[in-house]
Amino acid sequence: MGIFTKKPIAQLMQHSSEGESGLKRTLGPGNLIALGIGAIIGAGLFVRTAAAAANYAGPSVTIGFILAGIGCAFAGLCYAEFASMIPIAGSAYTYSYATMGELVAWIIGWDLVLEYAVGAATVGIAWSEYLNKLLERFGMHVPLEWCHSPFEVFKNEAGVMQHGIMNVPALFIIFMITMLLIKGIKESAVVNGIIVISKVAIVILFICFGWHFINPVNHTPYIPDPSTYTDTQGVVHSYGGIWGILGAAGTVFFAFIGFDAVSTAAQEAKNPEKDMPIGILGSLVICTILYILFAHVLTGVASVNDFRTVGREASVAYAVRTYMIGYGWLADFVVVAILFGFSSVILVMLMGQSRVFYSMSKDGLVPKTFSNLHPKFHTPHHSNWIFLVLVGGFAAFVPGDIVGDMTSIGTLFAFVLVCIGVWILRVTDPNLPRKFKVPMVPVVSTLGVVVCGAMMAGLGWTNWARLLGWLLIGLVIYFGYSKKHSKLK
Ligand code: ALA
Repeated sequence: MGIFTKKPIAQLMQHSSEGESGLKRTLGPGNLIALGIGAIIGAGLFVRTAAAAANYAGPSVTIGFILAGIGCAFAGLCYAEFASMIPIAGSAYTYSYATMGELVAWIIGWDLVLEYAVGAATVGIAWSEYLNKLLERFGMHVPLEWCHSPFEVFKNEAGVMQHGIMNVPALFIIFMITMLLIKGIKESAVVNGIIVISKVAIVILFICFGWHFINPVNHTPYIPDPSTYTDTQGVVHSYGGIWGILGAAGTVFFAFIGFDAVSTAAQEAKNPEKDMPIGILGSLVICTILYILFAHVLTGVASVNDFRTVGREASVAYAVRTYMIGYGWLADFVVVAILFGFSSVILVMLMGQSRVFYSMSKDGLVPKTFSNLHPKFHTPHHSNWIFLVLVGGFAAFVPGDIVGDMTSIGTLFAFVLVCIGVWILRVTDPNLPRKFKVPMVPVVSTLGVVVCGAMMAGLGWTNWARLLGWLLIGLVIYFGYSKKHSKLK
């Protein structure tokens, strides 16, 4: 048995039907779509859109959204085929274990930490920005050094450049959500339903009311000429043209992350074969349409210069308060709904994270403690505590742009591997029952690889270096621990 050993699908399915996990099957298709939208609409839309416009593409960030949506649709179809075939917890990790062997499975499982854990930290940081907008309404604010990372510089009240110390609100929200998760998914799903409705409501309200405040000057030219832009942290970005759009697509791709988190809940779905594809693709389609419209309105209401300066943080609230005269109430509603909305995103991401490590732990690739279930709540509470330390650390000490782009590139890499995996399995196991089949394989899976690969390219070499560094650490752990402890062996 070597590093390319695959986990037999029959064995996976047997574990799933035995219900060896102790996780309860309580979620129907509606819950799954809600879970998906709960994970999808968040910091990507309300924070990263403005960053993508400022750093990469101006108004043509909308084209970035279209590109990212297309990439996700291809990858989403592949996810749906896997989820309908292997309806158990673990997402891309589990799928790759059955198709591409243990080493690739490890790489994906490790890479998914970037998606879920680092992603949750990114949303935590975004939460902190909007919290300050809420406090401003009451004449208060968290001192800037206590809501920014030590690697970030900003202008303080006296106009002097200053470093952050620690992002306390970001750490706080990660802590609160972890506590909720330890209590169990059932309560969390109900709360999530309410939050999803208000989140979709603010997106629709912003599109409808904001449309009248679009200033055509802000949309001219729609695709800026290629140039470079150096952001406040000194990072140089390709701005405008095709590379600008690709960079923007990679950045706002963050806004789509989460539809695959639905697949991590397969073990809790009542009818996974049918409901997983509905949950994954349904939430993806709804969100893509909303995003394109939203980005069009946002970049029309406020200018790129705003997003580079005073409107850099909590940009949607900034745009409404500054330009949409008479809609102060909308700004307040947006801020409150966003604060709750971001919380639901963090919840789903942290849940996805603990579920992936739950599966990896059952397979022996990470220590047993990650699959230790709480005697009363049946949640992987040890895992939740451990990830509180990791995610909290990222949220408190690393800038939002860095964790955001790390999340994007890590997730895109996982998507590429999933697209390849679907194709491999069609060739190696053509007769396995598939309740949902991706049309036109290998065309669709190859397009998934190409589009996601292009977005990775757009994110630039610093992000590639971070991804490689992360994967190297993972390989050291695999060969030092996981390979020896693998249950399959
Ligand atoms: N898609 C999620 C968000 O935008 C991760 O916050």
